[in-house]
Amino acid sequence: MSTRKEKGIWILIVDDELSHRTMLRANLEHAGYNVLEVGDGRAAVEAVRREKPALVIMDLRMPEMDGITALKEIRTFDRSVPVLIMTAHGSIPSAVEAVKSGAYDYLEKPVDMDEVLQAVANGLEFGDLKRSERRGGASSGEVALIWKSPLMGEILDTVRRVAPSDASVLITGESGTGKEVIADAIQQLSLRAKKAFIKVNCAALHEQLLESELFGHERGAFTGALEQRKGRFELANGGTLFLDEIGDMALTTQAKILRVLQSGTFERLGGVETITTDVRIIAATNQDLKQAIERGTFRKDLFFRLSVVPIHIPPLRERREEIPLLAEHFLSVYARKNKRAIDGIAEDAMQILLRYNWPGNVRELENVIERAVIMTMGDTITKEVLPAHVRGEVAKQQEGAEELTLLEQAERDLIIQGMLACGGNRTRVAEQLGMSRRSLYNKLKRYKIGEQL
Ligand SMILES: Nc1ncnc2c1ncn2[C@@H]1O[C@H](COP(=O)(O)OP(=O)(O)OP(=O)(O)O)[C@@H](O)[C@H]1O
Ligand SMILES: [Mg+2]
Repeated sequence: MSTRKEKGIWILIVDDELSHRTMLRANLEHAGYNVLEVGDGRAAVEAVRREKPALVIMDLRMPEMDGITALKEIRTFDRSVPVLIMTAHGSIPSAVEAVKSGAYDYLEKPVDMDEVLQAVANGLEFGDLKRSERRGGASSGEVALIWKSPLMGEILDTVRRVAPSDASVLITGESGTGKEVIADAIQQLSLRAKKAFIKVNCAALHEQLLESELFGHERGAFTGALEQRKGRFELANGGTLFLDEIGDMALTTQAKILRVLQSGTFERLGGVETITTDVRIIAATNQDLKQAIERGTFRKDLFFRLSVVPIHIPPLRERREEIPLLAEHFLSVYARKNKRAIDGIAEDAMQILLRYNWPGNVRELENVIERAVIMTMGDTITKEVLPAHVRGEVAKQQEGAEELTLLEQAERDLIIQGMLACGGNRTRVAEQLGMSRRSLYNKLKRYKIGEQL
């Protein structure tokens, strides 16, 4: 149990309640961490500056300087130290504000020690990712990868373990689950982080163009090949190649890729010279490759070569605890992008987000939040700006008779879209939707969408 101590992992506890600090300290020390304690935000800022802890656990409500102010101040000089916030039961809004100010997670008091230890382990990992992002220079300071569930925690464990090796990684998961985000994380944490990172969408190009893209071509190799051109395998030499949508490739292309994986060699299209390349492959697909193998559309040997380390990302509906953090993250991204001062998601809207099934996974959630940011006039996202089908499922499941029918919700959505498209010009909206101005007015009133647009 003393390995963490030997490695010198220091955790800073910030809480004005002595008894709570003592409880945390005892448990963390028992788990092998070194612990520092301070009793208010001001002292916390100083301690982070001086002692550079690996992680901070901080209470929100404290005298002198509260947790959020302290966190903001810490972020002015230290962008990567993970900060775990503890909040009083029921104060989710301030917890969410903390996440927006750069905390990576929050726990409600009274805390459960197993949860704390899990969150600390996640946080230490998060710190590693952030530091490597900065090393790679790719980060704009935005947290690129948000997670909370144990499922994703395990995936990040794998990511961290395999990143520094040259093993091929095959990432599977439904569309929009974050396969590319994971591919990026692997590359950023790898020893090739500073080398070329090239992405090819294998589904976007038909056979010959894809091969020419991957392997390059000599002048005159085919009609239109006016110049010699280097392919992605050549350009990625020394670095990493991300083969996205790998399930849709022709068998001949698969054979050529297999050869590069086995021998590191290939020829340009129309070329005779054998070219050697040293490339780490990360591949992704939303298809079931095992089925494709049975159907005979995917090579078994290539599958085994690619999936030295398989990573499967579960759909969002199987890790719903991630929804609030992701939603808040996208809210702050799109509020900033659209220069809108929206600072939260109303409780009832969040309940809808939590219950919806998300067939399009994280990407769909991102789109829903982006749209909501654009449509919201107030400072909070309310359920009215969520698309009908997202609200609809809930209406069917549990809401009362005064709720809109699906048809009415669809109509309401159409009107909102019309209002957005026509800049709020009601005459034009009425024209476009083929209704009289009077009935448009009635509907605007009925659906309560007049003023907010
Ligand atoms: N854990 C996450 N944290 C933050 N953003 C995420 C996360 N997972 C996914 N996203 C965002 O969701 C969107 C979809 O992710 P990504 O493109 O990685 O999905 P994908 O699995 O590759 O989808 P597809 O199969 O459609 O290509 C992106 O905008 C990405 O930034
Ligand atoms: Mg993708």
